[in-house]
Amino acid sequence: MEAGNFNISANAQKYIDLEDKYGAHNYHPLPVVLSKGKGAFVWDVDGKRYFDFLSAYSAVNQGHCHPKIVKALCDQAQELCLTSRAFYNDCLGPYEKFVSEFFGYDKMLPMNSGAEAVETALKLARRWGYVKKGIPEDQAIIICCEGNFHGRTISIVSMSCDPDSYSQYGPFTPGFVKIPYNDAKTLEAVLKECGKQTAAFIVEPIQGEAGVFVPDEGYLKACYDICKAHNVLFIADEVQTGIARTGKMLCSQHEGIRPDIVILGKAISGGVLPVSACLADDEIMLTIKPGEHGSTFGGFPLAAKVAVAALTVVKEENLVERAEYLGKIFREEMAKVSSPFIETIRGKGLLNAIVIKPHNGKEAWDVCLKMAENGLLAKPTHKHIIRFAPPLVITEEQLREAVDIIKKSILSLE
Ligand SMILES: Cc1ncc(COP(=O)(O)O)c(C=O)c1O
Repeated sequence: MEAGNFNISANAQKYIDLEDKYGAHNYHPLPVVLSKGKGAFVWDVDGKRYFDFLSAYSAVNQGHCHPKIVKALCDQAQELCLTSRAFYNDCLGPYEKFVSEFFGYDKMLPMNSGAEAVETALKLARRWGYVKKGIPEDQAIIICCEGNFHGRTISIVSMSCDPDSYSQYGPFTPGFVKIPYNDAKTLEAVLKECGKQTAAFIVEPIQGEAGVFVPDEGYLKACYDICKAHNVLFIADEVQTGIARTGKMLCSQHEGIRPDIVILGKAISGGVLPVSACLADDEIMLTIKPGEHGSTFGGFPLAAKVAVAALTVVKEENLVERAEYLGKIFREEMAKVSSPFIETIRGKGLLNAIVIKPHNGKEAWDVCLKMAENGLLAKPTHKHIIRFAPPLVITEEQLREAVDIIKKSILSLE
């Protein structure tokens, strides 16, 4: 996966070299160096403009540097940034009320990264399992899905089936049972056997990192019903699929279900700060008592103000409807392209992927380099899959222009 004949300016190379020399090598970025963003666009250090079709892994749903979100950040930054939770402040309560009512849950628990919110959900589920369901101490099971991506902590990679995520990070956290994704029958069979010990089932409504795997219609509802029949919590990890990305405010709403715990991250701040949260009702949330979980920054005043502004933008700019409408156009337009590179196009709303069939010695990485050359940024996941997830504020005209770049790039490689 080299840059090939992709042109890297001396200016850009300087920044790449710094990361290479002084940063851990835990990422493999495309060789573009960005210095500015606005709406659906980013610019590199040489002033070249690109469509951003990754949106920081769906964190920038509201578009880069949205003026209302940036204003909320700047205004609050001049008043009070951080208090810790040792004291009350005048931002957190209004934020908690806003988010709880926005998504229709009794309470929220604020954290920072998506992984922390996943950890929080796992703790809530285990605690509920012991306190409310009566699972014997240290026996709780949480069922997860093969192909999942829930983050990078030790407990989370204990659920992973991807060697890149878990290899040589053991010993792992026990208590997870992995079952195939998109397979409600296996969930039922496992719960028939060990339902009494099971606290929760955790699932991504669409597996994003795995390559935008959209499960069969009815899968989530079937799993939800099975969980209810066995008094097992249904946890939806909506870190990537939530906040309008798939054409509903939460992706679970496509199947009319209300998860017992919802995990949110990324776009809850519009990509302005690391903000995440778990949502649940009192019966679950109040099982954690003072001093039993937390984070210095979780729900800090800047995050509180930024998240309220970011969610308000989602409503004001009708991003749910836009994602639904523009997603259809994207898939329709891409379906018209006849190329030996394209194996499948799939997705929901503006969370889409194209599975690339290597051809002429070229693979997904080469397609991404060619698209970058032509002014559009996207990145392969799992070698052959390219995710296409622009900011939801992209206009129809911009989307059609972007689709032309994607088409042109793919066709030029044949
Ligand atoms: C579904 C899902 N859960 C959790 C995470 C982890 O979020 P973070 O990288 O903010 O820790 C991600 C990140 O991509 C994700 O896609």
